[in-house]
Parts: sequence; structure tokens; C-alpha cells
Amino acid sequence: MCGIIGFSGVRKVPASLIMEGLKRLEYRGYDSAGIAWQVHSKIRIRKCAGKVDKLWEALPANLELRSGIAHTRWATHGAPTDTNAHPHTDSPQRIAVVHNGVIDNYRALKRMLESNGHRFTTETDTEVLAHLIAEQLNGSIEEAICRALREVEGTYGIAVIHAGEPDKIVAARRGSPLIVGIGEEGSFIASDAVAMVGRAERIVHLEDGDIAVISGKDHEIRRASGGIATISDWSRLDIPPTVADKAGYPHYMLKEIMEQPEALEDCFRGRVQREFGTARLGGLNMMPRDFLEIDRVRLLGCGTSYMASCVGARMISDLARIETTAEYAPEHRHSNPIVRKSALFFAVSQSGETTDTIMALREVMRKGGKVLGIVNRVASTIARETGAGIYVHAGFEYAVASTKTMLNTMMGLFLFGLLVGRMRDLSLARGRELIDAVSELPDKIRQILAMRDEFRSVAEHFSGSENFYFLGRGYSYPVAMEGALKLKEIAYVHAEGYSAAEMKHGPIALIDETFASVFVIPRDSVYERTLTNLQEIRARKGPVLTITTGETDDLESLSDRILVLPQTDEILLPFLTTVAVQLFAYEFAAQRGCPIDQPKNLAKSVTVE
Ligand code: M6R
Repeated sequence: MCGIIGFSGVRKVPASLIMEGLKRLEYRGYDSAGIAWQVHSKIRIRKCAGKVDKLWEALPANLELRSGIAHTRWATHGAPTDTNAHPHTDSPQRIAVVHNGVIDNYRALKRMLESNGHRFTTETDTEVLAHLIAEQLNGSIEEAICRALREVEGTYGIAVIHAGEPDKIVAARRGSPLIVGIGEEGSFIASDAVAMVGRAERIVHLEDGDIAVISGKDHEIRRASGGIATISDWSRLDIPPTVADKAGYPHYMLKEIMEQPEALEDCFRGRVQREFGTARLGGLNMMPRDFLEIDRVRLLGCGTSYMASCVGARMISDLARIETTAEYAPEHRHSNPIVRKSALFFAVSQSGETTDTIMALREVMRKGGKVLGIVNRVASTIARETGAGIYVHAGFEYAVASTKTMLNTMMGLFLFGLLVGRMRDLSLARGRELIDAVSELPDKIRQILAMRDEFRSVAEHFSGSENFYFLGRGYSYPVAMEGALKLKEIAYVHAEGYSAAEMKHGPIALIDETFASVFVIPRDSVYERTLTNLQEIRARKGPVLTITTGETDDLESLSDRILVLPQTDEILLPFLTTVAVQLFAYEFAAQRGCPIDQPKNLAKSVTVE
């Protein structure tokens, strides 16, 4: 989604300092980019539709600057054109603004400003902010911003410069993340800490309503709660400078698929307690008695976090015998949710910044419900607002298509199920058996990753197919949905995930010799039933890829291609089958030459509703 970086230095620096930060935000997805800086009390702007490299080429040669604000835009209001790209200014170009979020009442504000003589040149909601701030300018820029924002309904993370106040950048946040950083060369504002990697040493996350003013190494963060940020609000920026390395892989997605054995181990190591057949999750901040009072668990998430939640809901139900369901976060929010004292909610999110999930958790909290986070990014909004939960420790995920965080989120939920299960009916022997099986997962995932050539050959076999069903039952049903999501996201082919059982109730109408099906059919308690569904597809001449475990005798005549994975406990099968659907989707998209790390229309972190 949109990205912001602003820098104010103690001396002039090459423009590359800001542009490198902007490039590190590319992974979030965007369609245009721009930058504003000051020269002799005038604001200069370059912006264009397309990639950051195109913007870089459009900058004056050897440009040096003391400060500037830059932006990658993911279009919401107005097409991705040069004109609509940020920064936006008032008419005399005294104010420049970059903005993440959506101004809900921009039409009303625009009408009011037009009646006051302001002229607009873009289709964006952001341009209204520049004019609104200019209208209020009568003293310092931060005072004008505070007055202007009182008129604004909606969400924003903004960085603003004023021609009359050189090197000062003012930032404000409501609902859209912003971080202030400080390093040797000066101060930063960014929507994602990754933009400041290698430059800022200490950071502070702005809360809604905060205003930050930076100038060189001077900085002041006025808290919405009153007062100024103190030393205890700052933390070290702990993202390694190597974060943007592909480590020799052609794509971040493949690198992250390959990292899964180690990433998964990072999630369960130190948390499983074999002696007691259970897990320890200190971040939950709950007393043993609190667990006994839970009679319902709701997992709220979007996209892959939702798919991981569907798997996790089954795991928790199975292990702890607590009724657990997964729901799309925005659907839950708008369903006038029933919130009971005995229910426990989890906001599930890789980034911890997904607006749909944040709004859903706020709705539950507003009703007095208890919400914990299951999050990858440390200190993200969801982690801070829930104040307790499970970090999934997958490491930085750069690819837009989530992979390793799906596995680690499932592991976080599994560990929760194991912990609560062992406080209820799950036996010590079963707990230990599961922990032993978990500790074998990384090696089994390595075995699947070593089958890459086979996946490539299978992808080649199906590379002409434009339509896919991904089908599975039981634990394989959400895995099938995730396989379809991955294929859509990175390969741009039509793919739908269904329960294999549901096929005969309608979707099977589409099956013919051109419509392919990927069956996720490991040897589990629903194997025989799924086999019947496979036969139904085959009887209608549908091409089939089978992803299974164990013997393949009864699958040979029913499949065009078969991928055989290692076996594990039924409840842990999604940790293996998910890797298989990821790798198939990756190899399929690679065959078709798709821009795997920058899929069109998609953003890594979706910070609008
Ligand atoms: O950061 P989150 O886990 O909250 O993100 C949720 C979805 O936007 C995300 O999973 C999205 O579906 C990915 N592109 C999936 O690959």
C-alpha cells in the first residue's frame, strides 16, 4: 500500500538517501511515486506514474538536499497518473503533503475550499489536505496542520513541508502507521520502519492523534494523550540491513518459501515443553484460571491470515475442544458481533497494520471483549493495541504473497490449542506425541523444498491451464483455499478453493478437459471421502494434480500428475501441504513470467478499508 519516507538532515545529503528508503517501500505495492524538497524557500516536486526507478531518473543529476518527503502511491481516489501521484500542494506551492489513508469527507471539504477560491488540479482526496492546511496557515506549519485536521474525517498518516520553514517536516497520524526515527545523519518519518533500515538507530511509533516535528536531529513528538514523547517511548530499530537481500534467489517469495524450515523452528523453539506435553506462551499475559473460563474463540483476519486462522480454528477445536471459528475481520466487524465475557478473540495479522483487522478488533474491544494479537511485525499497531498475544517470529516477510507467515501463524495457533488442550482433556502422552511430530516438521519441509524440480515439471505440465479448482476436505480445505489465493495473486489465473465435498453441489458444472483441479488429499481421516470426489472430477474428464502423502496406488489412474509429500500427524498436515501449494503456485507463475514480487493491484499491507 502507499509508503511514506521523510528525512531532515544535519547537512546536505545526496537524494539517494531518500530514494533508497523509497525503494525499500516498493515491496508494499504501488503504482506511482513522487518526492518534494526545498530550495531557497521554494518547494520542488518530481512525481510520475510507474516505478521508483523512473522517478529517480527524473531527478536533477547529483541532486543534494537537506530534507524532503517522498511517497509511493497505491491508487484509491483517481487513476494512477503523474498528476495524481503525491506529493500534493496548495496552488502557490507553499505546502507539500504526502498522505496514506482516505479522507472520507474530502468532497465536502473541497466544495468549501473551492467556494473560498481554491483551485484543484487532481482527482485525489489528498490534495484537499494541502489546501486545507494552507487555508489555516497563520503561524507555524504544525499549528496550521492541527487546526486543519480538526476538520478532517477519515484516516491519515501524513508528512508535510512548508516553503517558509526550511528543513522542518511535520507528521501526523490517525489510523495509518507512521514511525519517527533518528540516526547519525538526521531524523526520519516513515510509514514502515524498513524504509529507515541502516540509517535510523532509534524509532518511536506514533499513536493516533500524535503530531511529530523533525528538523535535523531535533525532534518533538506531541502525544495525543498530552505531553511530549520521552526516552522510554523509543526503541532500537531491529530490522537487519540485509532485509532487502534476495540471498541469490530470483524472487523474495521463493527466498521466503525456502526459509520456512528455520522460520517455523523459530516459532516453536523455546515454547514447546516436552516434559509436560504442552506449550508456554508468556506473551498471552493470562493466568491458568483465565484459560479455563474461555468457552469460545474467534479468529479475525484477512487474506492469508484468514486462511491460517481457518486451519488454526480446527486445531484449537480439536486440541482444546473449545468452539473456535475463523471470520473475515471486516465481515465480523459489520455483523454487530456478539461479544461474551467468556469468549476470547484473536486479531490475526502478519503486518499488524491491516485496517480491516484493526477496525474489527476495536469493535470487539469497544464492546468489552478480550482481544489478543497473533502478529509477525513486532510493535505493530495490532501488537500495541492488544497489548498481549503471540508473536509468530517468521522474520521479515518482503514478498507481497505471504508464505512463511502462514506457516508460523498456524504454529502460533497450534501452540495455543496445545496449551489450552493440556489444561483440559488432552493427555500428556498425546501432547508429547504432538511435540515430537512438530519437531520433525522442519526436516519434512526441507524434503518438500528439495522436490523443487518436480514442482517445476508439474507446473510446466499445467502451464496452459487458465482455470483451477483447489480442493480438499478437513484440514486440507483451508489449504486448498490458500493454494487458490496464491495462484490468483501471483499468476493471474482464475483459481477457486472449495471443499472437495461441496463440488457436487454446483461447482462441478464447470469441469471439462480444460478446467484443472488440484486435489490436496493426504492420507488422513477423510482420505477415502476425498477420493470419491476425485473420481467425480475424473469421470468428467477434468485434468488433475494430486498432492498426497504415502501410497499412491489408488491415485495413479485418477491423476495427471502426483506430488508425494512426507507423512505427519493429521493435525500437522497443513504445515506440509501448504508448502506444496505455495511451491506449485510459485513455479506456475515463474513459468508464465509473472512479476512475482510485485503483483499488479496488490499491496503488502492493506491500510485502507
Ligand atoms: O498483514 P496481514 O496478515 O493482516 O495481511 C492480510 C492480507 O492482506 C494478506 O494476507 C494478503 O492476502 C496477502 N497478499 C496474501 O498473500
